[in-house]
Amino acid sequence: MRGIKGKSAIVTGGGRGIGAEIAKRFGAEGAHVAIYDIDGDNSAAVARQIEEAGGHAQSTQVDLTDYRAVAVAVQKTHRTQGLDIVVNNAGWDKFIPFVDTTPEFWDKVIDINYRAPLNILHTTLPLLIANQVGRVVNIASDAGRGGSSGEAVYSGCKAGLIALAKSLAREHSRNNITFNVVCPGATETPLFRSFMDEVSNPDKLREAFRRAVPMGRLGEAADIPGAVVFFASDDAAYITGQVISVSGGLTMVG
Ligand SMILES: NC(=O)c1ccc[n+]([C@@H]2O[C@H](COP(=O)([O-])OP(=O)(O)OC[C@H]3O[C@@H](n4cnc5c(N)ncnc54)[C@H](O)[C@@H]3O)[C@@H](O)[C@H]2O)c1
Repeated sequence: MRGIKGKSAIVTGGGRGIGAEIAKRFGAEGAHVAIYDIDGDNSAAVARQIEEAGGHAQSTQVDLTDYRAVAVAVQKTHRTQGLDIVVNNAGWDKFIPFVDTTPEFWDKVIDINYRAPLNILHTTLPLLIANQVGRVVNIASDAGRGGSSGEAVYSGCKAGLIALAKSLAREHSRNNITFNVVCPGATETPLFRSFMDEVSNPDKLREAFRRAVPMGRLGEAADIPGAVVFFASDDAAYITGQVISVSGGLTMVG
């Protein structure tokens, strides 16, 4: 894709699942990838895979909910490889009916799904503004567009990520920084499998998810990176504040 080679991209939550596929795709396109994950072993393994395939990657173990730790990591990435592209991918949830959730659970969901992207954006934006160019892609969810039973707080955070991207797109278009959003639907990843492990009838639930998708299958992690890399590319230079679902037709918004 045009305009990715040689660029520096942070991918949060790149240690596994969708983030790992996004990181590998940026690596294959010739970007210098900085993988941020709380799981240092996983992120180091993904960085190694990218390097072994001939790409450039570094892994940083960081808790994205910790503002100061994020600020240190971002400064290091900027110092060592510059910064052009930011992908807010890390996320977390559990299926629990809202009335059964606790304020402690809300804090965890909000910290990982909303505060972590705020931490990343607040620490990276000044660097992108100084460059007068940049690309930001938030990974939200179809849950943030259409809601999702058992995921009320998470869905609110993901809707928040969409509004955040649109607001920052308005604030920073004159700085030549674009903000766009990719929304996966149900996608086979370790996170999704952890949901399935906790329900009493995983096969029935998986089948219900599958039937809800017009294309008749769940997503794979490798389905997601194409849209992300596109938004980061020169081909998307005149696209900002937009939301695209990569979910087999689950959500169709005009
Ligand atoms: N899998 C799905 O069905 C699905 C559907 C819609 C949206 N999404 C979104 O896609 C993104 C990726 O999800 P996934 O399914 O690949 O998840 P995953 O759990 O498989 O991977 C998420 C990664 O984020 C990392 N992470 C979590 N909290 C962190 C923290 N505080 N600091 C640093 N790293 C942290 C984890 O260690 C992990 O490597 C998330 O934003 C998720 O909400 C997933």
